[in-house]
Amino acid sequence: MSTAISPTAYNYKVVRQFAIMTVVWGILGMGLGVFIASQLVWPELNFGLPWTTFGRLRPLHTNLVIFAFGGCALFATSYYVVQRTCQTRLISDSLAAFTFWGWQAVIVGAIVTLPLGYTTTKEYAELEWPIAILLAIVWVTYAVVFFGTIVKRKTKHIYVGNWFYGAFILVTAMLHIVNHASLPVSLFKSYSAYAGATDAMIQWWYGHNAVGFFLTTGFLGMMYYFVPKQAERPIYSYRLSIVHFWALITLYIWAGPHHLHYTALPDWAQSLGMAMSIILLAPSWGGMINGMMTLSGAWHKLRTDPILRFLVVSLAFYGMSTFEGPMMAIKTVNSLSHYTDWTIGHVHAGALGWVAMISIGAIYHMIPRLFGRVQMHSVALINTHFWLATIGTVLYIASMWVNGITQGLMWRAINDDGTLTYSFVEALQASHPGYIVRALGGAFFAAGMLFMAYNVWRTVRASDPAEAEAAAKIAVVGAH
Ligand code: HEM
Ligand code: HEM
Repeated sequence: MSTAISPTAYNYKVVRQFAIMTVVWGILGMGLGVFIASQLVWPELNFGLPWTTFGRLRPLHTNLVIFAFGGCALFATSYYVVQRTCQTRLISDSLAAFTFWGWQAVIVGAIVTLPLGYTTTKEYAELEWPIAILLAIVWVTYAVVFFGTIVKRKTKHIYVGNWFYGAFILVTAMLHIVNHASLPVSLFKSYSAYAGATDAMIQWWYGHNAVGFFLTTGFLGMMYYFVPKQAERPIYSYRLSIVHFWALITLYIWAGPHHLHYTALPDWAQSLGMAMSIILLAPSWGGMINGMMTLSGAWHKLRTDPILRFLVVSLAFYGMSTFEGPMMAIKTVNSLSHYTDWTIGHVHAGALGWVAMISIGAIYHMIPRLFGRVQMHSVALINTHFWLATIGTVLYIASMWVNGITQGLMWRAINDDGTLTYSFVEALQASHPGYIVRALGGAFFAAGMLFMAYNVWRTVRASDPAEAEAAAKIAVVGAH
């Protein structure tokens, strides 16, 4: 145990704010997911109003779950991890507060503009230019706070989790700024600076790396801190984590064209995207194995610790979706999966199984520590949440696999005379049971989030502000 390294305390205020908002946005984003999933079962739920139609609410769902829920989880955990592993307070409280309020303003901007139909039409980059500019300013401030804190660290070495968070922050800034280059023609309308196939390529370079860096690399930063912490074991292989980092970031950036198979994009670019995606399996699994093997000698803890279960099961889903992704990137497989619900199943294997589960585990780990409590109000409720989330994810992805393969096969079935065997509506009818199961799975997952909110609320309510401040101070003295 080292002696007092710094007399100051960590800035836990901003971490608490982002952690609480993760739960709030999680409920809203996933609740909306259940609603749009229900619209696909009962189309009457579109209510015949423009702002409540599936087409407008779907991008609101993706923005809320990715940027609001996932984003707040990434801000909360990165600010927590960078302070603890660098044994220093964030470089600036006011800049950190600006990132919190600025990020919430971006989300509110999305909630107002997307249902009104203001959109760039680029997937995951729908927000029109005034909001996109605010987002860029907040993000650059985030980079200043994060890297500034690393620079003033009290430790010699930069913990590997911070490498992953750092790459996620830098690459997200680059992707957002390049893909959003556009010409505004009015307050809420702009045209992309790129045209045709170039525009498509840049959009999917952005889109795929939003997956690779926002939905993967940042969460791997989380994995490298919270899995060893919760398992109370050192990371399985530090050397593997370094290889994992460099291999992942060098390969991901090339894989975007797998979203544009059989399009006007040059064929060589499609094949390059396919090859890079297949190679990507190796670092993805290297990382997953590194996380899993950290539990060596601690597997028994899974019996009693539902937080560790969240973290480990998230790694299993990460392994599954990063096996499925490279397979879907093979052109012949993609010719079956593209446009079908298989893609939607793959997305949610990653989104629910990996992104949401690891975030939930990390938040449960942090909340008692942030609010000066020994543990969450109810461990039994965490366990209930774990089962709702796991069953919900399985129902979601299994139903989408069945739907996806059914749709792909029905669409390509041809009679002897060359006419289509099935009409589009027949494939849609065959998908109906799958949509019911998906909505049910989503409802399970979202219900789990309500249990989480109650558990967090009870833990926070029992918190004593003085105790919480003391926890932030004491933490500076101990090892991270
Ligand atoms: C209760 C949980 C959820 C439900 C019920 C749900 C439901 C849905 C539905 C119905 C769609 C539209 C599918 C279509 O167009 O056919 C969708 C799309 C999407 N959702 Fe979710 N979702 C949930 C949670 C999440 C989470 C937590 C994330 C991310 C962290 C996420 C990310 C996405 C993405 C990226 C898409 C677009 C997929 C694509 O374009 O291929 N969802 N979701
Ligand atoms: C090695 C890792 C991965 C590879 C090679 C990969 C590959 C793919 C492929 C080939 C598609 C289908 C493209 C299409 O037909 O349009 C796809 C879609 C998608 N994947 Fe992955 N995937 C990987 C991991 C993940 C993970 C971990 C997540 C989530 C956390 C994820 C999220 C998505 C999303 C959101 C889409 C839908 C994009 C859209 O069309 O809107 N992927 N991925």
